Amino acid sequence: MRSRDITEYITLQTKNTTYQIGISSLGFLFHLYYGPKTEGKADYLLTGRDRGFSPNPYEKKEDRTYSLDALPMEYPSYGNGDFRSPAFNLRTSMGVFGADLRYRSHRRTEGKYSIPGLPAVYASAQDSYTVEIFLEDETAQVSVVLKYGVLPDLDVITRSVSVTNTGRETIYINKIYSASLDFLTGGFDLLHFYGRHAMERNLERFPILFGNQSFGSRRGTSSHQHNPFFILAESDTTEDFGSCYGMSLLYSGNFRMEAEKDQYGQTRIQIGLSDEMFDYPLMPKEEFHSPEAAMAYSGRGLAHLSHIYHKLIRRHVCRGKYRDCRRPVLINNWEATYMDFDGDRLIEIARQAAELGVEMFVLDDGWFGERNSDNAGLGDWYVNEDKLKGPLSRISQAVHQMGMKFGLWIEPEMVNEDSQLYREHPDWALVVPGRKPVMGRNQLVLDFSREEVADHIFSMICKVLDSAEIEYIKMDMNRSICNVYTATEGFQNYGQIMHRYMLGVYRFLDKLTTRYPDLLIEGCSGGGGRFDAGMLYYTPQIWCSDNTDAIDRIRIQHGTSFGYPISAVGSHVSAVPNHQTGRITPFRTRAVVAMAGSFGYELDLNRISPQEKEEVSRQIEDYKKYWDLIQNGLYYRLHNPETDKEAAAWEFLSEDRKRVLLNIVSLDTHGNSPVTYIRLKGLDPDKIYHLEGENSSYPGAILMQAGIPVPAELSEYKAWQYSFLRE
Ligand code: GLA
Repeated sequence: MRSRDITEYITLQTKNTTYQIGISSLGFLFHLYYGPKTEGKADYLLTGRDRGFSPNPYEKKEDRTYSLDALPMEYPSYGNGDFRSPAFNLRTSMGVFGADLRYRSHRRTEGKYSIPGLPAVYASAQDSYTVEIFLEDETAQVSVVLKYGVLPDLDVITRSVSVTNTGRETIYINKIYSASLDFLTGGFDLLHFYGRHAMERNLERFPILFGNQSFGSRRGTSSHQHNPFFILAESDTTEDFGSCYGMSLLYSGNFRMEAEKDQYGQTRIQIGLSDEMFDYPLMPKEEFHSPEAAMAYSGRGLAHLSHIYHKLIRRHVCRGKYRDCRRPVLINNWEATYMDFDGDRLIEIARQAAELGVEMFVLDDGWFGERNSDNAGLGDWYVNEDKLKGPLSRISQAVHQMGMKFGLWIEPEMVNEDSQLYREHPDWALVVPGRKPVMGRNQLVLDFSREEVADHIFSMICKVLDSAEIEYIKMDMNRSICNVYTATEGFQNYGQIMHRYMLGVYRFLDKLTTRYPDLLIEGCSGGGGRFDAGMLYYTPQIWCSDNTDAIDRIRIQHGTSFGYPISAVGSHVSAVPNHQTGRITPFRTRAVVAMAGSFGYELDLNRISPQEKEEVSRQIEDYKKYWDLIQNGLYYRLHNPETDKEAAAWEFLSEDRKRVLLNIVSLDTHGNSPVTYIRLKGLDPDKIYHLEGENSSYPGAILMQAGIPVPAELSEYKAWQYSFLRE
């Protein structure tokens, strides 16, 4: 049976993929196809049967085979007969839920759209195009634009949605997802990344079941618990083979993703703003923009899908001076001192670090207000000169004289009750009048949805930044948000404030990056609680986790690597026994693991042995030597933490396949154990690879097919780094 009265097709082509939408004579948008590149039309896939309790549009009441409940929809809304999870829903002033969006027109323009106030993928006019589809619900008096940004060379399609109230009454947006994808069959697995503070982004893979499986955050941040990136894969897809689709949301606040297998065994996946407690009033003529989702398809397994996202984020999301260049090797004093330091102690730590080749000293929490514990001082962004024994410029100058750059920690969104700021402006905190607030780390969240609040903090922080030479900021956010109320007239309902808060944070970051274009900003939220592509638009790297234990980090960085590039991952060598796990790992192992990221140290280098000090200098040299390969090369995961218990391994490969950096860490040791072989990936099978520092050669095909044996050594958590060059 050919065609559900499709009258027009919108086909998005990338280098290797095709995405097709069909417009029906009634103005419905059907999703026809997303997958390997093809020409031609996919509308023959649409079938129709008389399905009980799957309703029919009024115009088709005589044709009971026509139901939106069973057909693949491009942007499903509630209320027109599709009872699966909608991507869009609104409530009119009459209190009626639902929207009946019909096609009006579409247009294609060169270049990639941007989104006012929100992070978005960017690309040059030659490298991208935009398709906008204009829809309308005449009765509800609302118009909707579906935006598609296509980056053909990267095989990426981005999506965002905007809504305008064209009527005379306020309407309320209850749900507005950025992307929804329908598939005609089941049999898919979902890969998602769950976790907790200090153990973020663990991979879980499971077959999508009948009904709805959903993940998200209601914490005000994208969260440690569920990352806004996920993968839909056919059940036989592996790292190297098979079909898979990625969806990454460029948003750092409350979000939700849903995966659903419907009554007919078809699959729907969606991502966007969380609709829970979301109730966004839209005044007449007002326009609302959803965050952006970036989709990609790989027909060559999960590794290739990750490579697409790595390039996308590195080249089309991250911005600024440090986007492409090597980030300075830093030393952060947090785990060295916590808040127990003075200016002289800092200089002592910095001096030793400088002598060993570290390039930047970062002063973490505790330098401002009365901040001597985490119970006081947030909000008081003036330098504690007693503690520092002088102005901040004293430390900064000393550090610069040692030949290093200087960086500083801030947490602008927060306030302690015990602070001057709170005593002066208690109404600036997001608390519900008459109710005792829930506390997190004994701090409250400032109402960043109010411009005057965020601007006040901004100017306090600018004063500090202008008072000394500062090249780097670590911008932290250390509690989850709940029970909110804003004093802003008209904005009180919770349904909009969490999104407005996020817009306020983005506005703050935008002002910061505009005023200080050369500043390197590292994002952070108790480590990786806001590790998402939205944040990476402003901060090209993010402190990946408060867990610096090398063995735990292997797992955290493994999960992180599915959707995010190595350059985004802040990773440090810290002291042992590790402060989070108590585990003791060799110094070299900590460095090899930290080198799979933007590299640094987080300990007092005065307290390590002379041999370890020599090692630090060598590690920094190695990092400088390999950073280009690490940051810009293809990253391959060579082990699966669920099944490979003996050793972990990962590989960096230059795009021309000439340079390889193989990293191995032994995990589990046993008496008289079998040999573990690590198989490399992506090499030139016909060429010989030479191991640096050794006069032996390794055929590419054998390295990939049989692998390389993990050396037998009687010690725990040993690390090896092998650098190969192709002949
Ligand atoms: C968070 C960060 C840490 C450190 C502390 C300071 O937990 O993730 O790295 O900066 O705050 O309070």
